[in-house]
Amino acid sequence: MKEKKEENNLMEKIISLCKRRGFIFPGSEIYGGLANSYDYGPLGVELKNNIKNLWWKRFVHQRNDMVGIDAALIMNPKVWEASGHLKEFSDPLVECKKCKRRFRADHVNSKKCPDCGGVLGESRQFNLMLKTFLGPAEEKANEVFFRPETAQAMFVDFKNVLETSRKKIPFGIAQTGKAFRNEITPGNFIFRTREFEQMEIEYFIKENDWKDSFKYWQKEMWDWMTDALGLKKDSIHESDVPDGERAHYSKKTIDFEYDFPFGKSELYGLAYRADFDLKNHFKEAPYKDEETGEKFYPHVIEPTFGVDRSVLALIYDAYKEESERVVLKLKPMLAPYKVAVFPLLKNKPELVKIAREIYAGLKKEFNAVFDDRGNIGKRYYSQDEIGTPFCLTVDFESLENNDVTVRHRDTMAQERIKIKDLVKFLEDGIS
Ligand code: GAP
Repeated sequence: MKEKKEENNLMEKIISLCKRRGFIFPGSEIYGGLANSYDYGPLGVELKNNIKNLWWKRFVHQRNDMVGIDAALIMNPKVWEASGHLKEFSDPLVECKKCKRRFRADHVNSKKCPDCGGVLGESRQFNLMLKTFLGPAEEKANEVFFRPETAQAMFVDFKNVLETSRKKIPFGIAQTGKAFRNEITPGNFIFRTREFEQMEIEYFIKENDWKDSFKYWQKEMWDWMTDALGLKKDSIHESDVPDGERAHYSKKTIDFEYDFPFGKSELYGLAYRADFDLKNHFKEAPYKDEETGEKFYPHVIEPTFGVDRSVLALIYDAYKEESERVVLKLKPMLAPYKVAVFPLLKNKPELVKIAREIYAGLKKEFNAVFDDRGNIGKRYYSQDEIGTPFCLTVDFESLENNDVTVRHRDTMAQERIKIKDLVKFLEDGIS
């Protein structure tokens, strides 16, 4: 019980830090907000872009067998008919007979309303597709849906990509972007929202290779979480999703779960979609083996990564309370600011001038920030709380020696570095 209270408390502290320091704000706040929508602020967008860029570099640029796309959010409704989403993409919903609130049936454990204790009605399926209309008339013919996963564009564009990229299977198509789901019970901050972002790969293979490919991607995902993001290994768990609980398209799914403050919950997923999607979209097999001339439907392994859940896991994992400070021990590569530059004293123009020059130079290479408010100790703590790995201070010695004090976030150790060596020092420290 005590533990649960502490974890709730921790979640509140993280939400408060995110708002106070400009990582994540409640969406449309001045109008009273909009149910579970959030906006990424100046630091949040940096963290999020750093994750997405790292992902793209690792899984697209550094590989020979992957290409990217960036498709429209709204696709022809026939896509969702063929993919099975219009029929199958639903969650069980129950309504309280007393207060009329609705809940996901699989999220409530008893027949009683978690809010008012009233009796819950029978469960029915609720489709999660978010609907809108294209064009001026709100009629059935103009009805369209925001994509609930980025995946489908990789299937629909499969032939175009194949013909223009000259790839042969095994190869993959990657995409990052927004997805929308009319979730019955969004919640836990940015963990479950109705508008969120995904990073997905559809990896096309021969049917016989699916088990090996699945294992390969399972390891790739593990390495991404532990090496690239640096998440604690002990906080990550794999769960083989049993028959009957998998998405309608999946023959095998492994969920990667993370120990969030509110409990163990899905961070990412890995699915074997077989030839389900390509078969539904293409009347004729869209792939021809160059050597044998055989035409067939490639099978698909799908590693999928939620961007917002990555942000939440990273902030939670990095958040540390020490005796005098709160510090976000993010990997330097992911930190919103790489370096902060301070003049020791605001009222000494000779120090401010050099600090400004260093700042202007570093800003060409790194996301840097300048701060001359208050005392140095407070400035350090302020940068610790947002994860800035290095702080540089220009002091009176700098005038003599052309160097600065570099203070390290995690150890709080300090060393002198020549101004001319700073770019190299930071490059090494951030990579
Ligand atoms: N294309 C496969 C697919 O969409 P999914 O498990 O439904 O699979 C993939 O979603 C990932 O997207 C999840 O592992 C999670 O990280 C993220 N995600 C799903 N629904 C979400 C929501 N409502 N809010 C935030 N992230 C979500």
